[in-house]
Amino acid sequence: MIYMNITWGASTSAYQIEGAWQQDGKGPSVWDAFCREPGKILHGDRGDVACDHYNRFREDVGLMSDIGLQSYRFSISWPRVMPAGTGAVNAKGLGFYDKLVDELLAKGIDPLITLFHWDYPLALQHRGGWLNPDSPKWFAEYAALMADKLGDRVEKWITFNEPQVFINEGHLWGNHAPGLKLSLKDGLQAVHNVLLAHGLGCQALRANAKKELKIGWAPAGKTWAPASNKPEDIQAAHDMTFGVPNEDEIFNDPWWSDPVVLGNYPEAGLKAYGDAVPAYTEADMKTICQPLDFFAINLYFCMSKVKAGPNGPEEIAYDGNKPRTMMDWPITPEVLYWSPKWNYERYKLPMIISENGLACMDWVQDDGGVHDAQRIDFYTAYLKQLKRAMDEGVDMVGYYAWSLMDNFEWAQGFRQRFGLIHVDMDTGKRTLKDSAHWYRKVIESNGAEL
Ligand code: GCO
Repeated sequence: MIYMNITWGASTSAYQIEGAWQQDGKGPSVWDAFCREPGKILHGDRGDVACDHYNRFREDVGLMSDIGLQSYRFSISWPRVMPAGTGAVNAKGLGFYDKLVDELLAKGIDPLITLFHWDYPLALQHRGGWLNPDSPKWFAEYAALMADKLGDRVEKWITFNEPQVFINEGHLWGNHAPGLKLSLKDGLQAVHNVLLAHGLGCQALRANAKKELKIGWAPAGKTWAPASNKPEDIQAAHDMTFGVPNEDEIFNDPWWSDPVVLGNYPEAGLKAYGDAVPAYTEADMKTICQPLDFFAINLYFCMSKVKAGPNGPEEIAYDGNKPRTMMDWPITPEVLYWSPKWNYERYKLPMIISENGLACMDWVQDDGGVHDAQRIDFYTAYLKQLKRAMDEGVDMVGYYAWSLMDNFEWAQGFRQRFGLIHVDMDTGKRTLKDSAHWYRKVIESNGAEL
């Protein structure tokens, strides 16, 4: 019997489910443009329609209620509410989120809003994007607007989703929008501006909401697993998880979360990145480090196992025998033990798993059902590890399955199905998968069903 007294939810993001890419005055995002570049997205898929959630949101909130969700994490499309990213406001775009929030509250589902989940206004990208020194102020203006409009009813807010991904994939490696291949130096400058935007955004949210908010942020959790339970292997995996590699990448968590929670860049990073680190001031770090009410993290898998070697941590790659998901991610339930444990020890904030799930080979079968036994098994194993972390004292306040419904999986288009709900992308037909019915029982029993 497992008992987990947490808020149970599911997550989505605007560009991945809303569609209506030009409807009711919405401005273009960098993803609208990126999908139109030949060869960037598998099968040439685009988020123009996606799940058409913009027009079907009442049906979808009804399905959330059928599953028994206590909370729903979704993101705001910045260019839908501010078509040029700053200045003019699109009343119809705001009206969509107004109605969505009221529909959720009417069903007793607590909204958790993510302000930025990658669909950056194209107009701002044309003004330099995250390299423009005004970009933090642009984000704060947007945050202030959303707090003013929804802060009377929405308590929980996340500023940024996985900034590591949109900076590395979108600004260093070019695989995601806006498709840039910046130098490490410029990349780190963009990171600094995103961190400043997070800080100013927190201040703007609190200054403009009509009630007290609970604010956090949701980094990607890059985690390594100990190769054994030997203390030296556990330490080695921990040090790998919170180290800053010398490669030209900015995916490591502490470079991002240490400034946000602790108020300083990690020494290991300053050493590793050297001259590429942008000029910054103590005032910058004070702006970035705002009080947070929770630390959210998106977790899917461990990168590899690690053992203590004679010259430091040694990685042991998962081999071909390791079970994997459709994304080719190794199935490693222990990530939901080690990462919450270590991040809670480091940052001492209540925690939320803001994303966890897998892509399976899902289709609607002859009997009309979607029998995703592997997803049920995956969630069962991962949640048992989360319970283990909670039993050892991690203050876990929420768990959000990724994803509520099948959706646009970025450069993979619609190939990958992560949803508890199957979506036929041609007809829009929704079908609750077996895992959705299973999740309802888990929620009703607070995990006793596991
Ligand atoms: C992410 C994003 C989601 C993805 C999900 C599956 O974590 O990359 O937050 O938008 O769709 O994680 O990759």
